[in-house]
Formats: sequence, structure tokens, C-alpha cells
Amino acid sequence: GAPVKADIGKLEPGQMVVVEWRGKPVYVVHRTAEMISNLDKVDGDLKDPDSAISKQPAYISSKERSIRPELLVVEGLCTHLGCAPKYRPEVGAADLGGDAWVGGFFCPCHGSKFDLAGRVYSGVPASANLVVPPYSFESQSVLVIG
Ligand code: FES
Repeated sequence: GAPVKADIGKLEPGQMVVVEWRGKPVYVVHRTAEMISNLDKVDGDLKDPDSAISKQPAYISSKERSIRPELLVVEGLCTHLGCAPKYRPEVGAADLGGDAWVGGFFCPCHGSKFDLAGRVYSGVPASANLVVPPYSFESQSVLVIG
């Protein structure tokens, strides 16, 4: 399939947009500085915090799992059985663990949880981090997926 372009110039900090690529939803999140710093808080609760097991492109960082720290690009398909995880950025969400929840993705099918780098939590059915698709930037505001 052909690469897909998305204009991310107007994506506000904290917002997510879904871009379709090869029939798959790709989640693009403009992370805030707080969201990025919160990634440090959850390392101990994750199955694969450094993405040592989960395959990902070599050009992304291990913790943020991205090219630009503020921009997360992941396939919106749960690595358990492929449901679409919900974007749940609210810190302290009562239904997701209260104080322990610093924002991420929640899969409604069987309860898998991922952080805001798409890293999977321990104690859930999914065993791998959300997949990072191949991507690049055409300019500061144009993301190219594929
Ligand atoms: Fe997401 Fe099963 S498909 S937890």
C-alpha cells in the first residue's frame, strides 16, 4: 500500500487523531511534557519497558518509542486479539487504578492496559507493546506513515 500523509500541525498537546493506513487505525498523540515525564513513573509496572521483546523500528527511542519525543505514532490494535484500545489520558482515572494510572490506552475487550508510549502493563492479557508502524516526516507538520 501507498504511504499515507497526515497534517499534524494543528494537533494540540494532549490530543489524539486516528489515521487509517493499510486498513489499520494508527493513533497519533501529541504528548504533553507531563505525559512524557510520566513515562518514567510506570517502568516497574510494564512487561517490556525498554521494548527489548517487542519489535519496533530501529530509529525510534526505547522509552518514548518515537522519533519526536512529543509525538506518539502507534497502530491502534491491541496486541492481544486486535481490538481497538481506547485513549484514556486522564491521570488518576478511578476505573483504571486511580493514582497508579498516569494515562494511556485501555482495551475494552479483555482489559489490557498500555502507557502513553504504547508499552503494555504487567498482569494483562496482551504481551507485547503496541506496534510502531514505519513513519517519517515530510516537514514539521506533515507525518508520513508507511
Ligand atoms: Fe485487547 Fe484482548 S483484544 S485485551
